[in-house]
Amino acid sequence: MCGIVGYLGKNDCVENIKEGLLSVEYRGYDSAGISYIHDGAIQIQKRVGSVANLFDSITCPTDTHCGIGHTRWATHGEVCEKNAHPHISFDNRFSLVHNGIIENYAVIKDGILKDIPFRTNVDTESIVNLVAYFRIVNPKLSVLEALCETLKNLQGSYAVAMLALDTPDTIYFARKESPLLIGKGDGETFISSDVLGLGKSCSEYVVVPNGVYGYINKDEVKAFEESGSDVCLEFKSMISHSERAQKGDNAHFMQKEINEIPTVIENTVKIYLNEDNPISKVDKSFWQDIEKIEFIACGTSYHASMVGAMFTEDNAHKVARTHLASEFVYNPPLLNKNTLCVFVSQSGETADTLHAVRVAKERGAKSLGITNVMTSNLASECDVCLPICAGVEVAVASTKAYNAQVTVMMILADFLRDGDYKDIAEKILSQAASIDLDGMWASAKKFVKRVANSSSIYFVGRHMDYITCLESCLKLKEISYIPCEAYAAGELKHGTIALVEDGTTMLAIVTEPKLISKTLNIVEQAKARGAKLIYFTSLNLKDFAVSEKDVMAAPKVDVELSPLFSIIPMQMLSYMVSVYKGYNPDRPRNLAKSVTVE
Ligand code: M6R
Repeated sequence: MCGIVGYLGKNDCVENIKEGLLSVEYRGYDSAGISYIHDGAIQIQKRVGSVANLFDSITCPTDTHCGIGHTRWATHGEVCEKNAHPHISFDNRFSLVHNGIIENYAVIKDGILKDIPFRTNVDTESIVNLVAYFRIVNPKLSVLEALCETLKNLQGSYAVAMLALDTPDTIYFARKESPLLIGKGDGETFISSDVLGLGKSCSEYVVVPNGVYGYINKDEVKAFEESGSDVCLEFKSMISHSERAQKGDNAHFMQKEINEIPTVIENTVKIYLNEDNPISKVDKSFWQDIEKIEFIACGTSYHASMVGAMFTEDNAHKVARTHLASEFVYNPPLLNKNTLCVFVSQSGETADTLHAVRVAKERGAKSLGITNVMTSNLASECDVCLPICAGVEVAVASTKAYNAQVTVMMILADFLRDGDYKDIAEKILSQAASIDLDGMWASAKKFVKRVANSSSIYFVGRHMDYITCLESCLKLKEISYIPCEAYAAGELKHGTIALVEDGTTMLAIVTEPKLISKTLNIVEQAKARGAKLIYFTSLNLKDFAVSEKDVMAAPKVDVELSPLFSIIPMQMLSYMVSVYKGYNPDRPRNLAKSVTVE
């Protein structure tokens, strides 16, 4: 959902912005652009496509020291060079990059700015034009004051960085809801949507508080509330500088991230087994008097939460339910101080999930975040936050983060039971150590052509396998574009079986011995109507007329841990189908890694 970066310092700004953009490019692959001041004018260079494509096709001066950059996931206006950021004001005196959505941009354009020429139909242009407009209408206003006036007129969400021709060595910034961080190094200041986009030379950083605006120049970083009062930014030491993720020997990040899963699970468990573990750092009173638990998330994190809720009810014997964040905000359940709301998000920046946090807090519930990004909004807005320790996830399709989220939620469920999660942690560790990744890739590979050549696919399973169906289905559809649906096996006969015709591909996930006959009886009904079956199982299906060639091997793991490990071959299958069809699994069409708009 767009990444922004900015650099001001003693070194070449273009090189630093390029590095920053490459690190936040996962936030949007539609277009990229850069702006700096040179030869007495604001310069903007932008291109449709990747950051690499931008820098391959432009030449920039090497003596500029202040600039801003952007990588776009389009919200308003089609993907084209004109709509790419940075945007320039009608008087060519300001350039601006933006992450978020200006909900009232049409009102601004047709109202206060009705006589101002717009070059695009991108909401961002209303911001930069408002700044220019306020400066023209009232030349006594400083750039900062004009920015402040502008912010008062905006509805929606934004993180912005702006250059002004009149103050060439200054970056202006503002933030409401969308993420923004500032990092400082020796004679250098960086600004970015993500800690990853801050330069390697940063020694300290701060998350810009919500509703704050300000400026960066070579002497200082100043921040203000909307009222104009000063905000003291408390910089923290950079804990560690994550290297920009590299694919290594893998063809894609998704492949690399799937291959990391056993290590990620292992690392996560070990961190939670440490004496100084994340749960031990939480004040004990937080865990007291919890009567019920509501898990809230989106997409893959929602599916991981379904596993979490199931585990929590089974193990902690507490009422636990799962909610889509985007629905929770309109129809929250009854919440009170004895309700624990668990917000699960890889990025920690998903707008729907953050909105849900605010709703839950307003209603007095306790909030617990589970995230991969401890510098995210989620981490700062929740009462307590637990890390999943998955390492940077670049591919848009989430894989290793799912496994890490499920690991943490399995641990949490046992912790909520009696405070002791050692047994489950050790069980997970030992199963992770026995994972045969090569065997999984080989087994999934046998089904690539069949799946890739299907016009649609139905995933069916029961209980925990149903959750694996949902996540497998999401993975496959988002990177292969094959229409597919996941159904609780028992629901098929209540309507969906009407869609089954000769040759329909159905993938039955059967990992729980007690459910073999119940699931396969349903599958038989679909088979009798022409469905072609793939069975994903490690169980003996000898009592059913199942041919070996239709069996895709599921990992042999303790049934309780099935959702944690069964998903891996399905992630691999989706990846290989996407590659087989000639797509780039890391950058699926229309999607961005981090969904920072509602
Ligand atoms: O960062 P989050 O975990 O909050 O993201 C939630 C979803 O946007 C995300 O899981 C999305 O569904 C992925 N593309 C799934 O692979």
